[in-house]
Amino acid sequence: MEALFPTLEIDYDEHPAFRNLARASSWNDKQLEAWIGEIDLALDYIERLQIRVREAESHYRDAVLPKIEALAAYVGQQLPGTALRKAVAKAFKLCGDEILLDLRCKNERRLFDSRPLIGPGELSCHESIHETGLAIAKADTDDLRRLQERTHAEREAMRPGSAADDAGRNVHAYGQYDPASRRAVDILRKTGIWGAAEKYKRLRLELAYCALELSNEGQTWYRDCYSDAGLPTSDTAYLHYDGNFSVIKALIYLNDVDLQAGPFRYNSQSLKWKRSVFTNTLLVHLDQALGERRYHGYGGTYYRPRFKLTSTRNDFASLPRCFRSSSHFGDDLLNGSPMSKRLLEAERPVTGPAGTCILFDGYGGLHRGGLVTKGERWVINVGLQAEAASRFAQRYRRKLREGVIRFTKIAGVYSILKRLRRVFP
Ligand SMILES: [Fe+2]
Repeated sequence: MEALFPTLEIDYDEHPAFRNLARASSWNDKQLEAWIGEIDLALDYIERLQIRVREAESHYRDAVLPKIEALAAYVGQQLPGTALRKAVAKAFKLCGDEILLDLRCKNERRLFDSRPLIGPGELSCHESIHETGLAIAKADTDDLRRLQERTHAEREAMRPGSAADDAGRNVHAYGQYDPASRRAVDILRKTGIWGAAEKYKRLRLELAYCALELSNEGQTWYRDCYSDAGLPTSDTAYLHYDGNFSVIKALIYLNDVDLQAGPFRYNSQSLKWKRSVFTNTLLVHLDQALGERRYHGYGGTYYRPRFKLTSTRNDFASLPRCFRSSSHFGDDLLNGSPMSKRLLEAERPVTGPAGTCILFDGYGGLHRGGLVTKGERWVINVGLQAEAASRFAQRYRRKLREGVIRFTKIAGVYSILKRLRRVFP
């Protein structure tokens, strides 16, 4: 019988690109899994408490942080090579920071003042995202025209042949107050997507980013990761979970998108699949830390460089089994494998005319998009972040600034004393 909750675990020991690599065998996988289980349990407990943010922080420092630090120290001790050790240590540190931020936002939800949803747009979007992790709406024709006008200049500049690198991702980021961002926000509010997103997250949201993206069939950023091992591009390439709880995403199609034009695809079943919050967050940061150019030295366009080179595949193989994965694991599934078939069957493509608006829970559910086989896709990507998240970040920056001022004052007094000592020894 098919498992209700697939583990999404890929056996890299059997993967053609990894099976001949030397593997570290000294890891105590059972012990590591037990530690990860304890961290997840503690995080779940703190989240359920729905307490004041400062209390949640205190619980985190007492019950979670020491475990993450112990785990990081254990893993760090056994890894080969300084560069790998440093990158993994950085990933653990950033993972801890991210988990704390998410925990603050999760506890902040107890303060959410749930106003009644107004209008059929908000109601239907909320019902849909609540049940499936995905909501679809349609922008008003005039609003869409205005957005298309506001993005015209950038679209001309991004057309194939104009971009410096046509094989990579082609994105233009707008500022928060740019006319295009304002138009996009306006559409999300009018269609009911914004209100539904706030009610779904139980958090007040603000614009985190707004970006225009062109996808076309000439792009290769997700292709041929394992061509050296004789493998074709995976049918599930770019399938992934997002890394932050505090962000929810929306898309607005600027042209008609059919099945060949790289429609957004979402797997609603995966919302209910159990997975480790800690491992999920750590994998995102391992991908980032080990994906830095200075670490791997890869100059190509493929978007997960650490899986492309034999040297970094060796590093990957030396990690404990529970961390031998990626947030974007879809590229590593073998075509025709049971897991690949199951995931392909479960995903729903969202095709639609220009003006189609999509809200999705990328933290909770598997998704991908922009993999064009024919034609092109113009889309506005919008990230909505919990207002609380930037407030916490500001608080952190303020504390840091106060610390620097205090240090400067102490250093100033010390230097005066030193000078006095020179005059009056
Ligand atoms: Fe995503």
